[in-house]
Amino acid sequence: MVEKISLISRQHRTQALERAGLNPFLLKASDVFIDLLTDSGTGAMSDAQWASMLVGDESYAGSRSFYLLADTVQDIFGYDNTIPVHQGRGAEQILFPALVEQAVSRGATKPKFISNHHFDTTKAHVELAGAEAYNTICSEALRTSAHYDWKGNFDLDQLSYEIEYGGAHQIAGVIITITCNSVGGQPASMSNIKKAAAIARHHGIPVIIDAARFAENAYFIKTRDPAYADVSLKQIIREMFSSGDIFIMSAKKDAMVNVGGLCCFREAGSLFQRVQQSCVAMEGFITYGGLAGRDMAAISVGLHEACDEAHQHARIAQVNFLGNTLRDAGIPIQTPVGGHAVFVDAERILPAIPKHYFPAQMLCNALYLDSGIRATEIGSLMMGRNPVNLEQEPSLFELMRLTIPRRTYTDNHMEYIAQSVIGIVSNADSLRPLTFTYEPPVLRQFTARFCEL
Ligand code: F0G
Repeated sequence: MVEKISLISRQHRTQALERAGLNPFLLKASDVFIDLLTDSGTGAMSDAQWASMLVGDESYAGSRSFYLLADTVQDIFGYDNTIPVHQGRGAEQILFPALVEQAVSRGATKPKFISNHHFDTTKAHVELAGAEAYNTICSEALRTSAHYDWKGNFDLDQLSYEIEYGGAHQIAGVIITITCNSVGGQPASMSNIKKAAAIARHHGIPVIIDAARFAENAYFIKTRDPAYADVSLKQIIREMFSSGDIFIMSAKKDAMVNVGGLCCFREAGSLFQRVQQSCVAMEGFITYGGLAGRDMAAISVGLHEACDEAHQHARIAQVNFLGNTLRDAGIPIQTPVGGHAVFVDAERILPAIPKHYFPAQMLCNALYLDSGIRATEIGSLMMGRNPVNLEQEPSLFELMRLTIPRRTYTDNHMEYIAQSVIGIVSNADSLRPLTFTYEPPVLRQFTARFCEL
């Protein structure tokens, strides 16, 4: 599909941002020229995906489209038990309470999930399920200017330490997020995935793969690890997923649909049955989980398309093109460039601005005013407050994420984006700090409102 976009005047952008409480999430999409808020559900579906939707089977139970999807999951990932869900957080809301229950029945008093890094909704659902979300990302990820191929890796020593000294019985699950969104769309290496899973398994802890960008991670393994240079993406994906017991997936990213998700189990045991029951209550019957048959058909095609090397090559190259243009102009970004986005380091651009004035959000607003481009903050605003003592959670980064939808924009758009970012960074001294006029208690970044100090 091709969609007309238009750039409203600077004066109208100023008014629109005011109306949105200086929070780009609250802008009307029609007031946005190039939308880099997210790569979630914003990609262009292929001819084959659209065609599959016309033959989606809308039977309430046991539809042909469900079995097509379950067969695709079996074929690509090797998991036999598929539960469709309305999107990634649908999987989180039906799975995490069941894992917490399981941990409590094994003696956990303070259940905890350990991840390389939880995504924000993932952390929120862990906490809603009464557990703690703990991150053990490798230290290399924190130095945005230093090159390291695997910034999505676990710090394996820290993972072992947390399990052994905190008590393995307290850990409800180890979540391997691929690619690791919160640290810059960075991949985890095959050996790190395997070692993290082996540590968890040694202690009898379930391994969950948060697989929103599974194919991008596989592409990085293929292109960065010489041992996999001649291995197909599909084989790499199979090998990555052999480390997991369960995977949850927002199908709105690599699977390139507008809505949908998955919660899949290797074993059809009691945990799977418990999660199926929650699915019926919260998402929909076990063979549709909140999706239309046509949505499941499109996911099935999208999963296959994600395994296409030529597609991933073009995708990653476009994100790289934007990142390299910025880096060559001296803009500090998370390096190497991530899979789904370029992450601009606001801390290095605005070193004098304290984190609680949200330097990355200041840049996002400046970008919108300058050129009608909408980006998103990945930093203190997103981290939010500690649910117990209500203190601001320390954030590892203050990043402006320029998220690139799949198969949507051209390199010409990338050049326009780069020029605007370069322009606002050169005038960063003129930007004013932000403070809340309204702060919601959870997931505050979506609906908060601000004023300038
Ligand atoms: N896990 C990861 C790693 C994600 O990036 C997301 C969503 C989710 C889970 C939740 O999936 O949105 O389908 O419910 N990330 C989007 C983003 C929203 O903009 O990065 P969902």
